Amino acid sequence: MNSSATASTNAGSAGRIEAFDAVDLIHAKRDRGELSTPQIDWLIDAYTRGYVGDEQMAAMTMAIFLNGMTRREIRDLTMAMIDSGERMSFEGLGKPTTDKHSTGGVGDKITLPLMPLVAVFGVAVPQLSGRGLGHTGGTLDKLESIPGWRANLTNEEMIAQLRDVGGVICAAGSGLAPADGKLYALRDITGTVESIPLIASSIMSKKIAEGTKALVLDVKFGSGAFLKNIEQSRELARTMVALGQDAGVATSALLTNMNVPLGLAIGNANEVRESVEVLAGGGPADIVELTITLAREMLALAGKTDVDVEAALTDGRAMDKWRQAIRAQGGDPDAALPVATDTHTVYAAQDGILVQQDALPFGIAAWRLGAGRARKGDPVQHSAGVDLHAKPGDRVAKGQPLFTLSADEPARFPRALESVEGAWRIGDPGEPVLTGGPLIAERISAAD
Ligand code: URA
Repeated sequence: MNSSATASTNAGSAGRIEAFDAVDLIHAKRDRGELSTPQIDWLIDAYTRGYVGDEQMAAMTMAIFLNGMTRREIRDLTMAMIDSGERMSFEGLGKPTTDKHSTGGVGDKITLPLMPLVAVFGVAVPQLSGRGLGHTGGTLDKLESIPGWRANLTNEEMIAQLRDVGGVICAAGSGLAPADGKLYALRDITGTVESIPLIASSIMSKKIAEGTKALVLDVKFGSGAFLKNIEQSRELARTMVALGQDAGVATSALLTNMNVPLGLAIGNANEVRESVEVLAGGGPADIVELTITLAREMLALAGKTDVDVEAALTDGRAMDKWRQAIRAQGGDPDAALPVATDTHTVYAAQDGILVQQDALPFGIAAWRLGAGRARKGDPVQHSAGVDLHAKPGDRVAKGQPLFTLSADEPARFPRALESVEGAWRIGDPGEPVLTGGPLIAERISAAD
């Protein structure tokens, strides 16, 4: 069959004349063809309207997954998804805006200390975040452990908080890139999430529509990341940086290692506790290093280079911003966080060095304990999760606790324990420690 899409006589359900036939476009992509700008615009618009059905879009996303897209097609797809909804603007705030997006990982709570830290320097941080699905946690799920805290703000409330506090972490409204919301839910159940054109357009459509003027991407690689190898992550980072630049957003990316969980806490309430420790000037070294590096990068893109970021973490200014931001959204920063009814601790059976602690199985364990959700809309258990007591490279003694599982339903422990079998190991001094390299592997900017 001819794969060129020229049909113009196709009457849609509302009697409108459709510009193309979805099946022609599917054939074109299936046969490794390139879709034109009008074809992509039509496809996304027709899918958002419901004229192109999920079964056709599922075939299209699989064709894209298998055959890829050119940079031009990815840019068109991103712009079409932006045009499916509203575009926010913070021009009226009178201060620069900067944001961060992480592709997600195990124990990744960086947004929590990062937002207030950057806001200290008079740069507005509109951090529109999501909920977790599968083994990667969601920022909103973590923050909802704080009694009273509210994720859903109106656009007016969000702008008021950016003006009065300087930073906000809240749910992205359904008006931003609605085509992506529909498409992402479809990809999730059709095995088409891990595609660079689809991930890049999904993330960047929301970030560009959000209206930030500067954006730092934390692109993960390794066992706990979407994309396991660094080459794929580099390609994703380059694609997203180019999309940002083309849309007038100053964008850079860090490639960061997700072979080992970030910090010591994996879950929801325990990740908030760890973030507060960082804001109090303590916390695990990897969380502090990544928070400070991302803050510097976000501030530099917003034009602030001569600032002492570390000082704002240790002298309490970032903590003050955190408390203001939590209160502004109805939360009580002093309230006790939920604690699970049951715990199960695993102890070292010998002396030695912890030489392995694989991120993905620990993320799955936290998920099986109830910290994550299997289906969109499921509730999460805020007190469930894993607390690590040692990191790779640490010396451990026989009988020392290695990690603790927490859950409100002890029946969840066996499956969580099963998922971490073989995921950690105590070796002899001198054995290589399996971390997969440094935490921050590369920086990618528009010039690269
Ligand atoms: N996060 C998104 O928002 N979209 C993707 O496709 C993957 C991660």
